[in-house]
Amino acid sequence: MNRFTGLPATAAIRHQHTLLKTANLTQAPDFTKYSPVKPIKEGIAPYIVETMKAFPTDSRYINQQHYYQNRNILMNDYAKRSPHPVSLMQLAQYYDDSSTLTKQKIINSGIFVKEELAIRIASKINLLQSLPFNVVNNFHFLQVYESYYNIFERFRKFPTIKTMEDNLNFSEFIRKILQDFNSLNLPHLIMGALECTIFDLYPRDKMDELLSNLLRSRISRRLIVEEHLSVTSNYVTGKKENTLVLGDIFQECNALEYLTNASKECEQFIKNMYYPSIPLPELKIEGSKDLTFYFLPAHLKYLLGEILRNAYEATIREYIRKGLKTPSPITVTIIENPDTYIFRISDQAGGLIHSDADLWSFGKSKERARESLNNFHKLPGLHSISIYDDIADSKTCLSPSMKAVEPYMNTSLAHTTQWNINKGHYKLEQPLIELLQRPFRYKLGVGLAMCKVYAEYWNGDLRVHSMPGYGVDAVLTLGNLMKSTAKKQLDKV
Ligand SMILES: Nc1ncnc2c1ncn2[C@@H]1O[C@H](COP(=O)(O)OP(=O)(O)OP(=O)(O)O)[C@@H](O)[C@H]1O
Ligand SMILES: [Mg+2]
Repeated sequence: MNRFTGLPATAAIRHQHTLLKTANLTQAPDFTKYSPVKPIKEGIAPYIVETMKAFPTDSRYINQQHYYQNRNILMNDYAKRSPHPVSLMQLAQYYDDSSTLTKQKIINSGIFVKEELAIRIASKINLLQSLPFNVVNNFHFLQVYESYYNIFERFRKFPTIKTMEDNLNFSEFIRKILQDFNSLNLPHLIMGALECTIFDLYPRDKMDELLSNLLRSRISRRLIVEEHLSVTSNYVTGKKENTLVLGDIFQECNALEYLTNASKECEQFIKNMYYPSIPLPELKIEGSKDLTFYFLPAHLKYLLGEILRNAYEATIREYIRKGLKTPSPITVTIIENPDTYIFRISDQAGGLIHSDADLWSFGKSKERARESLNNFHKLPGLHSISIYDDIADSKTCLSPSMKAVEPYMNTSLAHTTQWNINKGHYKLEQPLIELLQRPFRYKLGVGLAMCKVYAEYWNGDLRVHSMPGYGVDAVLTLGNLMKSTAKKQLDKV
């Protein structure tokens, strides 16, 4: 007789066997972290209970009517329409060779953006719906799904744009969408992928493909929206000529300045992690030092930031491990070609320790995914607030969008995204920059995988050559966007 179960020994073994087969909820990531103020109800995090229900209690979209609504409106209509691949130049100049911004051009741009965004997001919702139920029902993916549906419905229902005033309302509307809980989609996508890897819910290569696909289309959608905000703002502020071929959101970037800034941030992170007087690696910059080129500032900052971060981290680790007198230098070589710009970041920190096969994967191995997820949970300001929190805690007077930005408030990550239509000032891709600004100790294990998606998006590439026992050369190639202005860059729908 078994002392714990009161069952005969053979039955106890069978019983134990069933227990082993059932999901061990204690292994589930600590979901309470998402909402530290809320107690765990009945021993199970409320978020797990939520995803076990037929319909999440407080979802605005996934309810008894969802199936029919989705079939009639999304599947049979929007998802059947093809997205329109466009080039950056088309968006900036708005389908016209002349660089003069006219009222009609801006209104047409608004009409296009409203329609196009609904079609593009519908195709992504459709993609999410084709995933195994356990994947799309994962806590994080469900947040993304809910957010996408919310965006779809809001774009679809936005009144037809006929006048400049309609367009100004529309601009304000899209600006808010860029800022509300949609800004948490980036961390949710990555955390969802990590959890699915940990629980073996989806093959790793397919998950990487899915994430790259969702990230690429996210970049495209944001570019379309941001170009529209930019041309609207230009027009309103009296700038009647759009002389920059690619639009104002692309700026002339000074390579040296971006590298120096990225290295300063790395140095600061190292000092914070170790001690303020720790010797720092020397950064040597060689090649086309005076290179300036048109690029999306936030993307360039992110790419160089992540790659330099790896080099600094490895160099300091090697310096401490080997007890060296000074850390070895980091050398960046800038190469300017007619069609591409190349940044080779070389360190002498001993080379890669993990296998190459995992390097480009978001999930990496189960163990590393678990570590990464743990660090995501610890990130200050990136605590994911469930859309469900708002309704579960109905006494609160915060709107969902306020709730979403609440965790950023009073932290170093406080939202600085301020767009003033009259001043034309706004910051792009804040979520990406926030991700980059995490302290060194929070290793997310997704830096290279993310960078590859972004580099490839811009007709470029990222490769890592490891010389075991010596160091690593990371080679970032970026396309010369001025050479491909007519390329349907935004075809990555
Ligand atoms: N310059 C380098 N020298 C040695 N190892 C490196 C270098 N760059 C990357 N690596 C190895 O590749 C792994 C993956 O790098 P990646 O940037 O994708 O994630 P991470 O650095 O572990 O985490 P994160 O960048 O998200 O904080 C690193 O953990 C490290 O082991
Ligand atoms: Mg890294």
